[in-house]
Amino acid sequence: MTPTLRAAITAVGGYVPETKLTNFDLEKMVDTNDEWIKSRTGISERRILREPGKASSDMATEAILEIIRKKNLDPLEIDCIICATVTPDMPFPSTANLIGDKVGAKNAFGFDLGAACSGFLFALTTGASFIETGRYKKVIVVGVDKMSSIIDYTDRTTCIIFGDGAGAVLLEPSTDGLGFQDSILRSDGSGAKYLYLKAGGSLKPASIETVMAKEHFAFQDGQPVFKFAVKGMADVSAELMEKHKLTGDDIAWLVPHQANLRIIDATANRMGLTMEKVMINIQKYGNTTAATIPLCLWDWEKQLNKGDNLILAAFGGGFTWGASWIKWAY
Ligand code: UT7
Repeated sequence: MTPTLRAAITAVGGYVPETKLTNFDLEKMVDTNDEWIKSRTGISERRILREPGKASSDMATEAILEIIRKKNLDPLEIDCIICATVTPDMPFPSTANLIGDKVGAKNAFGFDLGAACSGFLFALTTGASFIETGRYKKVIVVGVDKMSSIIDYTDRTTCIIFGDGAGAVLLEPSTDGLGFQDSILRSDGSGAKYLYLKAGGSLKPASIETVMAKEHFAFQDGQPVFKFAVKGMADVSAELMEKHKLTGDDIAWLVPHQANLRIIDATANRMGLTMEKVMINIQKYGNTTAATIPLCLWDWEKQLNKGDNLILAAFGGGFTWGASWIKWAY
């Protein structure tokens, strides 16, 4: 019998800008305080890409160059780059296209995928499917967001949450049972009104009015998003575990989207996991949207063992949400 062709993550790269924006810095900018931010979100500081002329593609490029170095990979071998982001360098061409040029992936095609905070999971599932067909051998999936480019730093309800960063993985074929196993992905456009960018698209193109009304900044109605996120992320993770008859004991790590420590707690609880099995770096990076999950893999790479069962789970604007099960391959 021919062994099942799966997509294995064979390398991880990451990048966060050097500049830190701490809760104490924010205390000087808006009416907030370190204690409120830490207790309501778990965040202490986030990274901000301050250099003029630098964009999402530059952070993604750094993350992918790390993979190229680690794997001694010839960029010409890369077949495809999928870039999950809500902060593309520009509406078109795609950021993936610009990244391909910057890393020297001259033989690759690429495209952007927009699923907000669930973007990495949607892109990972898409990339894994490309490998599983047998058509492609080296697919880069990168989650990147320069959230500071769409945040209003006078709005205390959003500016305390978000940060900038990029995380990338290399997917390659595997036939030993390891790698990507399954995903359950969901979206519900009726939730769009709770978390979105009001202007700058075809519905409401940029104008003096949209700029004056601050409609090019991310809008979030935090409480409904919080409620949907707690339920969505926990439900879909539990559903994936039930589908594959996995229990908390089978899971080595939960890799949750880092939006709010309280949402992460609720998901871990529902999955029957103790917090020692949960990757949490929200305190140092905040919510980097599409980059949170690969940045966790980047931070924890050395602690992962071949064969470990990982559940990746996310919830974000759209609404979009989902969970993926992977068996770590190295
Ligand atoms: O990643 C994509 C998906 N996004 C999420 O999953 C985020 C989901 N939402 C959240 O994480 C939370 O709703 C927030 C962190 C955004 C807000 O926390 P919350 O516990 O839901 O606060 P709240 O909006 O209910 O506000 C409670 C109080 C309000 O004051 P009053 O009306 O009770 O007097 C706010 O005005 O806290 C006030 N407040 C703040 N106080 C100090 C709101 N923001 C701040 C702040 N500092 N930064």
